[in-house]
Amino acid sequence: MATTQQIFKIDRTMRQSLNQHVAKCIWLTGLSGSGKSTLANLLEQELHDLGKRTYILDGDNIRQFLNADLGFSDEDRTENIRRIAHVARLMVDAGLIVIVAFISPFEKDRQLARSLFAKDDFFEIYIETPLEVCEQRDTKGLYAKARAHGLRNFTGIDSPYEAPSNPELILNTTQSLPAALVQKTLNYLGFK
Ligand code: ADX
Repeated sequence: MATTQQIFKIDRTMRQSLNQHVAKCIWLTGLSGSGKSTLANLLEQELHDLGKRTYILDGDNIRQFLNADLGFSDEDRTENIRRIAHVARLMVDAGLIVIVAFISPFEKDRQLARSLFAKDDFFEIYIETPLEVCEQRDTKGLYAKARAHGLRNFTGIDSPYEAPSNPELILNTTQSLPAALVQKTLNYLGFK
């Protein structure tokens, strides 16, 4: 289908100047139960308190509606990340600081996401929580189900997780408390 890009009068720069801050995509990757949603939640609260306009895109939530047609095969995960990377790009264009919290297990999919943004707009943060710890926490009971073969293609059990080779930041949730990790992130991003 042939389409033409429409150009509108109000652009990202104008939206950012109205917001009085720059837009960014903060991409959190890590195993299920690694702490992505917890950290996203705390990070957003801090940014909100600093007067920043934010939004969280979270795998569990997005899969209920926008991506309800997708499962957990490799192909579906790739499509899940492709779609949400484009949504995040639109949100950055809208002038927001968008926090993406998806397992995003495949390096090539995270690279695709990165490729949609300018260098200064995209920050990949690896939530480095070992599988044993995620499995021990098992807040949703999904690891137990996966071990009992009640769930197939579970990340870390019978579906791979490729740790980022060159993330902007690594947060280790077994060595520091969430609040400290959020401060580290805000410092790194230049918000504090
Ligand atoms: S991703 O791999 O495609 O990036 P996403 O972040 O959207 O995954 O969704 C992960 C969430 O879906 C997990 O936190 C968990 O609650 C739930 N889930 C259900 N089945 C699986 C599975 N087979 N593997 C991983 N997570 C699953």
